[in-house]
Amino acid sequence: MLTKLPEIVNVRDDITSVLVVDDSCSMLAILESTINKIGKIDVATCDNPVKAMLKCAEFQYDVILVDYLMPGMNGIDFLRKIRKVEHYRSIPIIMLTSQHDRNVRIDALSAGVNDFLTKPFDPFELRARLSNMLALRNAQRQQAKLVAFLTNDVEQAMREMALREKEMIWRLALAVEARDGGTGAHIARVAEISRLIALGMGMGEACSQLIYLAAPLHDVGKIGTPDAILRKPGPLTAEEAEIMRRHVKHGVQILRDGATELLRIAALIAGGHHERWDGSGYPAGLKGEDIPLEARIVAVADAFDAICSERAYKSGMPFEEAFAEIVRGAGSAFDPACVAVFKQLKRELLEIRTHDDIEHLHEALKRPPVEKHQNARPKSVAGAHIEHAAHAPRRRHAGAEAPAVNRD
Ligand SMILES: [Fe+2]
Repeated sequence: MLTKLPEIVNVRDDITSVLVVDDSCSMLAILESTINKIGKIDVATCDNPVKAMLKCAEFQYDVILVDYLMPGMNGIDFLRKIRKVEHYRSIPIIMLTSQHDRNVRIDALSAGVNDFLTKPFDPFELRARLSNMLALRNAQRQQAKLVAFLTNDVEQAMREMALREKEMIWRLALAVEARDGGTGAHIARVAEISRLIALGMGMGEACSQLIYLAAPLHDVGKIGTPDAILRKPGPLTAEEAEIMRRHVKHGVQILRDGATELLRIAALIAGGHHERWDGSGYPAGLKGEDIPLEARIVAVADAFDAICSERAYKSGMPFEEAFAEIVRGAGSAFDPACVAVFKQLKRELLEIRTHDDIEHLHEALKRPPVEKHQNARPKSVAGAHIEHAAHAPRRRHAGAEAPAVNRD
């Protein structure tokens, strides 16, 4: 957003530099003296066009005066070479020539010259033409400053918009988890685990970051699930389980047709995080790679953290057992490739599971790159991630008082 206009700088108040290239030392002296009378101009001279090229490689002059007839490299050859140098593509250049040959002037114009001065030159004409070129250079500088200023402003505005989008997503996900009795720690952990799996699968920093930002919205559809079902401590009836499953479709309805890549991925995750690799999941019974990869990744992260976590309807399973359940779910509930990466992340997962404080995880969030099997039974507790307690067998880990079934 444009907040202030840049100051207008008159370059004639600054030190302005002019390079004069001529093989005649006496002519160089006359030109230097004439230009110096304009004032506030730093004049550099060079009697060799090849050496002049080297000087230009080290310093950006504001205007160049170059003779046409020089031994070794004439003024047009000099022009052709200097115009290939990035920071000399638009620097004003005046050619000094005693030639009246129309073809020389046409060649010089084709090579990028801006003006001509005929030898023997009139000092007043030289000052007038040089002043014009300095005015052109002044305009170029101001335009460059304005472009830089606006570019910086646009980039800042885009950064702020992206930050607001992330914040809104995070706040919305927090609101949904709060209804489920959560504090935000679950969605933050799911986001971080998903990011690590995505990175391990070679999705790159930028894609992994998008999954990280979108993952917290995987259960946004629970906003439409009644509290009585969402927070019910005991098993759900078949009818309640069906209502619970609708959170996937609600989530897609909320997120679909988003204007950004982030929302598009969030919709894929919300719609696919309860699908199973073997095709027995819901809502579409997608199988294998028909399930969006982003959803397959979040399915693993969500299931693992949900199995570890205590809920109103179940106790949390110890880390090692939950880890083993996910590994056992490879090829049935989960994409084997995602689980293979998951297995390599044990140390990181232990670290993530030790952090329940939302502030720690929120800091991490700010870091700156079809086929349906109706009656398939889950082969593991991990499978219960996409089955409901009312449909799946009740399972208990050693010493647990409630089944480690995940309704997330
Ligand atoms: Fe869910």
